[in-house]
Amino acid sequence: MIKTRIAVFVSGGGTNLQALLDAQAAGKLASGQIVLVVSSQPEAYALTRAEKAGVPSVVCSRKELGSQQAFEAAILQALEEHGAEMIVLAGFMSILSKDFTDRFPERILNVHPALIPSFCGKGYYGLKVHEKALERGVKVTGATVHFVNEIPDGGRILLQKPVMVEDGDTPQALQRRVMEQAEWIILPQAAEMVAADIARRKEHGD
Ligand code: GAR
Repeated sequence: MIKTRIAVFVSGGGTNLQALLDAQAAGKLASGQIVLVVSSQPEAYALTRAEKAGVPSVVCSRKELGSQQAFEAAILQALEEHGAEMIVLAGFMSILSKDFTDRFPERILNVHPALIPSFCGKGYYGLKVHEKALERGVKVTGATVHFVNEIPDGGRILLQKPVMVEDGDTPQALQRRVMEQAEWIILPQAAEMVAADIARRKEHGD
């Protein structure tokens, strides 16, 4: 079966990218191949992770490119150059327009560090999600992998995994536990599910 060509979008540390690269090295992303890393931040450590793994990367900064349109055009060009068929948002902190997401129906995945529909949508990203969960006093949180459409965190849910909040948790401690016990596990699993589905459909010519 021909592997599905995957682009991973990042903005920061890239631990979820690392989980995907490790899954690929371990043969757990058997239906996909990571062919490109797109970073919205020139300084992202995720770019070093891509380089170490020998995966090409490109920086597309909304700020530097000046407009949403120019930003998305640069991303689309990079995707085309590398023949990417599927996108994984792994800590990508820029918004993508409906025009962009409509081009890849059920081909863009995102990992969100909470159990959607809790603590999600506009303004809920990164550490903020865990700050809000602790403020609200929830005892269980977790992570969600979902398809991406024009509604922030609004696409169909693929996988979720719960994680217990512990007494005395800081946002940082909770973020780390959610990553270790949920995100790094379900993101590669969901990526393989979707990559396998795309590969199967290609083989059947649809
Ligand atoms: C992860 O916790 C990811 O779920 C979150 O940002 C972090 C990125 O870490 N994403 C969002 O909040 C998106 N709404 P990483 O760069 O180490 O993978």
